[in-house]
Amino acid sequence: GDKVNESLVKCTDPNREFPCPPPAHVKAVDFTPEPTVKRVRQPAHLLSRENQEKYKEAIARMKALPASHPLSFAAQAAIHESYCDGHYRYDPAEKNRPFDVHFSWIFAPWHRMYIYFYEKALGQLIGDDTFALPFWNWDAPAGMVVPPLFRDPFANPLYNKNREQSRLDKLVHLDLDFLNAPTDAPLIPFDGPKDDKYQALVNKNLCTMYQQQIRGGKGARAFLGEKLCSDADARLKEMNARSKKRRRGKKATRDKTKSQGSLERMAHTALHVWVGRSGAPDGKACSADTDGVLGHNGAYTCKNDMGFLGAAGRDPLFYSHHSNVDRMWHIWSTKLGGEGFKDPEWLDASFVFYDDVESPRPVRIKFRDVLDTRNLGYTYDPEAEKDLPWMTSKI
Ligand code: C2O
Repeated sequence: GDKVNESLVKCTDPNREFPCPPPAHVKAVDFTPEPTVKRVRQPAHLLSRENQEKYKEAIARMKALPASHPLSFAAQAAIHESYCDGHYRYDPAEKNRPFDVHFSWIFAPWHRMYIYFYEKALGQLIGDDTFALPFWNWDAPAGMVVPPLFRDPFANPLYNKNREQSRLDKLVHLDLDFLNAPTDAPLIPFDGPKDDKYQALVNKNLCTMYQQQIRGGKGARAFLGEKLCSDADARLKEMNARSKKRRRGKKATRDKTKSQGSLERMAHTALHVWVGRSGAPDGKACSADTDGVLGHNGAYTCKNDMGFLGAAGRDPLFYSHHSNVDRMWHIWSTKLGGEGFKDPEWLDASFVFYDDVESPRPVRIKFRDVLDTRNLGYTYDPEAEKDLPWMTSKI
């Protein structure tokens, strides 16, 4: 809620080169709803040539802004990084606890806000206020592969080398089970024969979507996640301290996925892991020298960019991935009749983002402002909603 936001005090990484999100106490203007819907988000794999070029040009210009500019690509990535993996801390009662926009009911609205300001900045950079952030349409069979637009390595600002290249042209898994599959489990070529194996995985993906959106997404808590519980870590510590004598050596740990809604926990997470490059280059051990990322637990992870929350915003694909995550929320709250939380604590929670590339100014926006995308001046291509193949994919 607002209390939490007001007390966001520290952006802790001393080595960061880029600006932190606007501090909680800056003077911010209040968000005003957009008067009309001007932007229609389209499936990335169906974009016209012209719109592909526009998207590339906008990203190229954003990447060309100096890193110190709050709407530069580097700063956008840094904003996401700040809000996860323990980089940001808040200090309500002199306890310095990490703050995260994942693993709770903050996930959907925060990411909607974040890509809204990103989309607007891109449009401004190419002087087109109808520019809409294309979505990676992974819930439809034709979109179940990383769109070629992002894979072309030639002078392409949407390309990123920190991806698990061997998987990118294969049929995706919308379920995390591929991690447990034997390492030699065959990857199924997306453009290969549409044989039984191919069909079976497509069907499985559609069932995952049905599970995420309908069967397992009944009600706000199930779909959007649990209330942010700022005391969870402290309580865990206490619990472990108390039970020390009883259960020698055995420590309770917090399973953060338990507080995620199905929107965050399922296809969203699976695709982060699917795209992110794992392991250090050249088979070296994962360390600081082999571009490992230091987690706040002190260990290095070699899941790069999309595969690691802190670094995910460095891959341009991240934003089109989240455009579809956002679309899944939109479909849930329109077509599927899902209702968000009624708690004022959620509705009035607010964040501050920079708006306007020319003269960036901090804008305060509340969760209640973003519940209907029309308030933000965008919607999703109605064509892509006519036939949602997962709607009937009961297991
Ligand atoms: Cu902030 Cu897909 O995560």
